[in-house]
Parts: sequence; C-alpha cells; structure tokens
Amino acid sequence: MVSKTRSSYVPWSQERAVAIFERHRTERGALMPILHELQDVFGHIDPRAVDLVAEELNLSKAEVYGVVTFYKDFRSEPPGTSVIRVCRGEACQSMGAERLARHAREHLAVDFGGTTSDGAVTLEQVFCLGNCALSPAVLVDGRLKGRVDEAGFDELVAASRTEAR
Ligand code: FES
Repeated sequence: MVSKTRSSYVPWSQERAVAIFERHRTERGALMPILHELQDVFGHIDPRAVDLVAEELNLSKAEVYGVVTFYKDFRSEPPGTSVIRVCRGEACQSMGAERLARHAREHLAVDFGGTTSDGAVTLEQVFCLGNCALSPAVLVDGRLKGRVDEAGFDELVAASRTEAR
C-alpha cells in the first residue's frame, strides 16, 4: 500500500463508496479489496463504510471492525497531512531500524498508528518496502527514502511539515 497525503483523499461520499463496493462485490474474498480501495480513496475506513460493507456482505459490524483493527494497513481515523512509514523488516532491523523506530516515536511523540497533535504527521510501521539494499528504509507520502538515520529522519519530518504549509 502506498501512502498518500491527506490532500489526495476525498471526503466521504456514500455514492463513491457504493461504486467501490459494486466493483468488487462478485469477487471471492471481496472484503479485503473493498476495504483497501475504500481506504485508498477516503484515507481511512469511515464508520459509514463499515456499515455499508457489513450490510452488503451480510457480516456483522463487529466482524468488519475486527478486520479493520486487526490489519495494521487499515486506519479508523483520517491520517495526518503527511504519512511516514518506518520499515521494521529484517534487513532494516539489521541496519538499525529499531533504533530509528524508537527515535521516530520519541521525536513525533506518537506511537505507530498515531498522528501528531497538530495533525501534521501520521507515523506507521511496515515490514519491508522492497528497499532492503538501502536499509533502513522509510516511506514519506509514497516517496521511498533509503539509509535513513535519526538525523535524516528529523530532516524528512521537517521537510514534510514545510511542504504541507
Ligand atoms: S526490510 Fe526494510 S526495505 Fe526490506
């Protein structure tokens, strides 16, 4: 999943959500592709999306919420202006990703999945960005960065805050 910025997402639209549902409804295991596309379009899984999906797929809302909260790729809340994903995969771990992950949480004062209090940055974790040769890797609003150390991380955050202004 590629992270986008908040401005790339559209506000909730029942009509658009129904169109997404209709596109996937006959697929086997339609739930996951529907949720992925809903998040890709709206930036998170809105409670109204949960209602729609549960009703149309004949599932309970609890079942749909269960999937949304189980898979870390899904968000229940709108993301910050920037989404920064820190890779914690094996290759990145061997190059200091855990130290970077700790630093990222401290620097932004949020845990993974959280958004800074000013709404500027959502911090997420991922377990391989396909950039192992340049680990530790970070994805900033869909842009891949390699060999990111703590100072580099801070620069990326500062740049994405400036860009968002
Ligand atoms: S493990 Fe981090 S990019 Fe592959």
